[in-house]
Order: sequence, then C-alpha cells, then structure tokens
Amino acid sequence: MQATDLDMVLAWRNHPDVRQHMLTQHVITLDEHRQWFERSLHNPQRKIMLVENQGLPFGLVHFTGIAPQASVDWGFYLAPDAAKGSGRALGQSALSFAFEQMQMHKLCGQVLEGNAASVRFHERLGFSLEGRLRAQVFIASQYRDLLCFGLLRSEWLKTSLT
Ligand SMILES: CC(C)(COP(=O)(O)OP(=O)(O)OC[C@H]1O[C@@H](n2cnc3c(N)ncnc32)[C@H](O)[C@@H]1OP(=O)(O)O)[C@@H](O)C(=O)NCCC(=O)NCCS
Repeated sequence: MQATDLDMVLAWRNHPDVRQHMLTQHVITLDEHRQWFERSLHNPQRKIMLVENQGLPFGLVHFTGIAPQASVDWGFYLAPDAAKGSGRALGQSALSFAFEQMQMHKLCGQVLEGNAASVRFHERLGFSLEGRLRAQVFIASQYRDLLCFGLLRSEWLKTSLT
C-alpha cells in the first residue's frame, strides 16, 4: 500500500459491510487513517499489502508482529464491490506471501463471533480454530467473543503442494 491508496482504502474500511466486522467500528477520519498508515510505515514488524488482479486492487491484507520465528497476526478485507471469488484469491495470495516469501512460522487471525464469512474463509484456507476468548471486546454496548484461528507454515506447505 502506498500513500496514493489512502482514500480508496479508507472508503473500503469505512463501508458498513467491512466496518461491522472490525474491532474498532467507528467511522475513521482521513486524519486518523493517515496516522495509522504513517505509524505502520515506520514499524518494521508490520506490513500492509494491497491484493491486485491485473493491476486493479481488490482487497487489503495486513500483518503485525513480523519477526524471526514469530507467530504473526493478520487481518484483511475485500473491497465492498469485489467480484465473487475474490476472497479465495486474497487468501491464496496472502498465504503464499506469508509462508513462501516471508517464511513466517505461523499466522493467527481473530474473528468477531457472528462473522460467518470470515470463519468459513479461515476454515477453507486450512486454519484451525484454536480458542474462543469469551466476552473479550466491548462493541456497540455489548461484550462479544473473539474466535482465534491459527495456521502453521508446515500445514500450509502440505496443502499447497497437494
Ligand atoms: C471475510 C471475507 C474476506 C471473505 O470473503 P469471501 O470468501 O469472498 O466471502 P464469501 O461471501 O464467499 O463467503 C465465504 C464463505 O462463508 C459463507 N458465508 C458467508 N456469509 C455467511 C453467513 N451469513 N452465514 C453462513 N455462511 C456464510 C459463504 O457461503 C462462503 O462459504 P463457502 O466457502 O462454503 O462457499 C469477506 O467477506 C470480507 O472482506 N468481509 C469483510 C471484512 C472481514 O470480515 N474481514 C475479516 C475480519 S476477521
């Protein structure tokens, strides 16, 4: 992601279809968004990537906590108008980048309870459900559970070679 992508990514992030599944759900201002991007640029443990098809971006993936031998957290969202099947393409590109290019040991994803598409998405990519953090976050006047998914590099390599 580059500074010229800020407006497009902010529109995706603030879209209700995306925002309702995030841990912070208020409408993000351009200023906040810029600060998030600047902080990320200066954080060697973080990467924010756009996923493209023939040069056209259709989703965003971010990795946090990148370090040798570390378990890395990821997050992602599609452009709200992304074509059918885009989730699969986003997942395959992100995992191949994480495990083949970056040689990460493990990827972890946290999903708000009720986000059926993301649960299914993680399962389809081979992630295991490793835990449930009960009433972990307070969102829109209620406590919500977080589901913890994990995928090891060894598991990804096994499935990507078959
Ligand atoms: C998560 C996301 C990337 C998945 O993209 P996708 O795979 O293209 O999404 P789909 O609409 O194809 O749904 C994925 C699967 O969940 C299923 N699903 C979707 N909504 C569902 C619902 N309400 N109830 C049950 N299953 C549902 C779909 O049928 C599909 O199942 P399949 O793989 O067996 O066909 C996309 O939905 C997204 O960007 N969501 C908003 C942001 C977000 O939630 N990010 C993750 C935060 S943890």
